[in-house]
Amino acid sequence: MATTVTASSSVPSMRAERIGDGIVAFLPAGMQRYPTSLALVKTPTQGGSIASSWSLRPRFGSDGTGTHVTLVVPENTDLYGTGEVTGPLRRNGSAITLWNTDNFEYQLDGGRQLYQSHPWVLGVRADGTAFGVLFDSTWRAALKTGNTIEFDSSGPPMPVIVIDRLSPQLVLQGLAELTGKMPLPPRWALGYQQSRWSYTPDKRVLEIADEFRKRRIPADVIWMDIDYMDGFRVFTFDPKGFPDPEKLNRDLHARGFHSVWMIDPGVKFDPGYAIYDSGTARDVWVKDAYGKDYHGEVWPGLVSYPDFTRPQTRQWWSALYANYMAEGIDGVWNDMNEPSVFKVPSMSMPDDNWHRGGGDLAPGPHLQYHNVYGMLMTRATRDGIQAANPDKRPFVLTRANFIGGQRYAATWTGDNTSTWTDLKTSIPMSINLGLSGQPFSGADIGGFSGETTPDLWANWIAIGAFYPFSRAHTTKASQQKEPWAFGPMVENTARIAIERRYRLLPYLYTLFHRASVDGTPVMQPVFFADPRDLRLRSEQEAFLLGGDLLVVPAWAKKPALPQGIWRTISLVDHDREDAHQATLKLRGGAIVPLGRVVQNSTEESLDPLTLLVSLDSKGQARGELYEDAGDGYGYRKGDYRLTTYVAERKKDQVVLRIAETRGNRTHHQRDIVVQVVTNDGVYIGKGDEKHVVVNLRSSH
Ligand code: GLC
Repeated sequence: MATTVTASSSVPSMRAERIGDGIVAFLPAGMQRYPTSLALVKTPTQGGSIASSWSLRPRFGSDGTGTHVTLVVPENTDLYGTGEVTGPLRRNGSAITLWNTDNFEYQLDGGRQLYQSHPWVLGVRADGTAFGVLFDSTWRAALKTGNTIEFDSSGPPMPVIVIDRLSPQLVLQGLAELTGKMPLPPRWALGYQQSRWSYTPDKRVLEIADEFRKRRIPADVIWMDIDYMDGFRVFTFDPKGFPDPEKLNRDLHARGFHSVWMIDPGVKFDPGYAIYDSGTARDVWVKDAYGKDYHGEVWPGLVSYPDFTRPQTRQWWSALYANYMAEGIDGVWNDMNEPSVFKVPSMSMPDDNWHRGGGDLAPGPHLQYHNVYGMLMTRATRDGIQAANPDKRPFVLTRANFIGGQRYAATWTGDNTSTWTDLKTSIPMSINLGLSGQPFSGADIGGFSGETTPDLWANWIAIGAFYPFSRAHTTKASQQKEPWAFGPMVENTARIAIERRYRLLPYLYTLFHRASVDGTPVMQPVFFADPRDLRLRSEQEAFLLGGDLLVVPAWAKKPALPQGIWRTISLVDHDREDAHQATLKLRGGAIVPLGRVVQNSTEESLDPLTLLVSLDSKGQARGELYEDAGDGYGYRKGDYRLTTYVAERKKDQVVLRIAETRGNRTHHQRDIVVQVVTNDGVYIGKGDEKHVVVNLRSSH
């Protein structure tokens, strides 16, 4: 049963309903049922009264043109989340515009308004308990954080959901219960990826692929930017530069590469062009305020924009991927989907353009649907890819998105610049995306816009190798920005950094699996190691990968690091001698699985499997390894293996054994190398998985 909370006289009354464990939905006066939500994975139904002691209660107000919501922030609370925008990790005192914007070089408002909108704030109290506030509205809004959280929406009153739990990790699990999880990506998408605008023609793409293999720099993916298209017409191929995309993909696959190709939303306004004609025949386009097809300008000149609020449009769009994917394309890159419109001051469509909706979605103006345009597009893209290749896991990268968008696509942080500022900014940006429900993100390594110095590129790859999404990319006019383009020293740094990532792939994949199950971010703020340690709350140079590995950039100045045992580790030869590499520290009590260095993620790397052990003060450690086929859906039917390893010190020996296995995937008998990292060196033992003994007195 819902309770009615009587609020102060200036504020309309509202209903508060318990919709989950420590989760309450506040519905504004007059709202009888929870409305259709694009943020949530399903409409909450479970009612129930809330405890009278529940302290976080939003207040609604309205001035006739929009809705204003205020929530008083408990004293000494640190605020995070709010999506990808620039600014410090700790988001207290920020003013953010929630209006997806093609914000080249983050120039507009210093990047406090970017490509995505996350009407969500995470609060961590001084005692380490935490809460989250989700304003469930897609309309244009301003979000301010200070002693209060203020949400100023241009739309009607919306539900506000508050999660209140014992830790920030548990609040994020609550967010994932509400907005869904990132589906497990194909394992190749965790590899290093190389892009530029554009590698063209097809021969050049293969040259790049060959160069990686020749120089033995691991890589998994090459990206095709817009110039592969015929006059920027989506779903076409330039007959000169890319006459046989199917062959190009075959050639890439033969070299152990996957390919991702770009598709923008704007369809060239070009009667006679098959995609435009078929869209027009089905009446799929966004309309202007007078009901006529709206045209805006993007790369191809004038375009029509699919109205993704319509189920018919989404089905049409999805179906376009059948032939496209049949060319052997592995993943799709959706860009310009804020949607971006050139040569207009608003950089997008007029607010009063009309979306016709359908199904669950009411018709509405662009002002209402702008922020979910990219999300609805990627939903249709993902569905199309899935239908085209039902036995594979889709991979979609998007620039624009909305809270909950992790259900459909990974993301990158758009057109950054080749500057130290943007290298440094990329860390709090990706962390806060993770703290807003999106675990799969990264910045353009090396910076998109401008020339990169060798030193900056070396520093960037040393950190970018640890982004959840690890891709180098650059703009059209810029210099070459491949790992070898800056001379042998930088190439060596890049090889070491990328090899480190590849050794860590079994751990990373285990983290991605975890994120897909409960929403735990892959890249985490350092304060996750100890949410009660107030020293850590603003740390934004160092970060955690999962709970066990600390990444400290070489350039970090006096980073605040967690108390307790954290031991510096080496993953590949000479990594600790290279001044650009990040320092990696393993938590005492952790076991991290490592593979061999391979040239791409589909090569077998777990023979031997290395388990890196760092004992806690009691002489114990524990860690997990998730394995499956790396693609497809067998894992949903039990074809996976989740192994929990434990290690324990007994006098001068460390004994490693399996504590638990889940799933029924089997693998060949394989050798295990156990490396126990101690304060005075690394001790090594070998054996099979059941039982490995490491002698701490033997030489090391
Ligand atoms: C946009 C994208 C960029 C891409 C370019 C050309 O600027 O953000 O990544 O290279 O368009 O497609």
